Amino acid sequence: MRSAAVFLALLLCLQWTWAQGESGEVTGTDAETEGGNRQEEVQFEIQGVGAAHDQSSSQTNISPDIWAELKELRDMAIEQKVELRNSKSKIEKLEQENAATQARLTASESKNAVLEAKMSFYEGVVKELQRENMVLETRMSSSENEVAELKRENAATQARLTASESKNAVLESRVNTSENLVAELRRENMVLETRMSSSENEVAELKRENADRPKVAFSAGLTDAGPVGPFNTEITLKFSKVFTNIGQAYSPTTGIFTAPVRGVYYFRFTVWGGRPSAWMGAYLYHNEKRMTLSYDYNDEQAYVSASNALILQLEKGDVVYMTLYPGSGVFDDSFNRTIFSGFLLFAL
Ligand SMILES: *[C@@H]1O[C@H](CO)[C@@H](O)[C@H](O)[C@H]1NC(C)=O
Ligand SMILES: *[C@@H]1O[C@H](CO)[C@@H](O)[C@H](O)[C@H]1NC(C)=O
Repeated sequence: MRSAAVFLALLLCLQWTWAQGESGEVTGTDAETEGGNRQEEVQFEIQGVGAAHDQSSSQTNISPDIWAELKELRDMAIEQKVELRNSKSKIEKLEQENAATQARLTASESKNAVLEAKMSFYEGVVKELQRENMVLETRMSSSENEVAELKRENAATQARLTASESKNAVLESRVNTSENLVAELRRENMVLETRMSSSENEVAELKRENADRPKVAFSAGLTDAGPVGPFNTEITLKFSKVFTNIGQAYSPTTGIFTAPVRGVYYFRFTVWGGRPSAWMGAYLYHNEKRMTLSYDYNDEQAYVSASNALILQLEKGDVVYMTLYPGSGVFDDSFNRTIFSGFLLFAL
């Protein structure tokens, strides 16, 4: 604005100068159209004016006010020049700054490009993560349902467990009772086993004893031939019809029983007589010793009999037998009337 005002004033001054017919190298139109070189020309013109003034100040008739004004204008122009120089250096400085800013801008832009690429990459990552997040949320939800289901199942299982535990307690108590019973029974069983074992031993012992114990028993009929006797001498009766002869201690050929072991023996006999008006009788001997004489007299037309029994303690090898009482007879036939028997009661 200020330079424009100065220029306007200068222009007026020049117009005025030209109108006075003085030397004018620069026209008004030139000054108006040559905007780019305006300041240089103005400077030149001012110098020109100054020179003209110096040369013709004494010759021309120009009022001193105008010269003073021109001088003032020239000073102003110089001042403007200085200011212009300052502006130029300012502009240079600004241009440098601008260049620096441009450089920074370029750097910033390339950095921006990098950041945009990164941004784009991270946006992709973010989208991917969002997708994964959705998937995870779905799975999470399904897992939560499963957890809820499992909690329900757990509660049911807990209830069953509690019931089972109380049942267990009852069963445990019963088991304890049973175990005690089993222990008691085992103890009793052991006692019984001991007794059983001892009994078995006793039984075995008894079996052995029984096996070792001599078995002696005989029974024999006299004859099928009818009457035996009477004889004047005493004869041994030979009971020849053997019914039983365990241990073979009785001999039917001699009529003598021989004790195989020391012991207590039982003997018995029956003798019959069939002859009328006659004596019937017999002795039983232990070794040479008569033990009994059993007899009867048949005074009828019939049979008579005599019987007796004895328990004798015999040493091993002792003999027992029967003899016919002299002068008397006995009788036997297929009816088996006259029989001699004996057996070992127990050994000693
Ligand atoms: C069963 O016996 C065991 C061992 O003697 C004992 O610890 C437990 O308390 C008993 N249980 C019951 C229910 O009596
Ligand atoms: C006499 O003993 C024999 C031989 O044991 C027997 O066969 C018979 O039947 C007996 N006689 C009578 C009448 O019992």
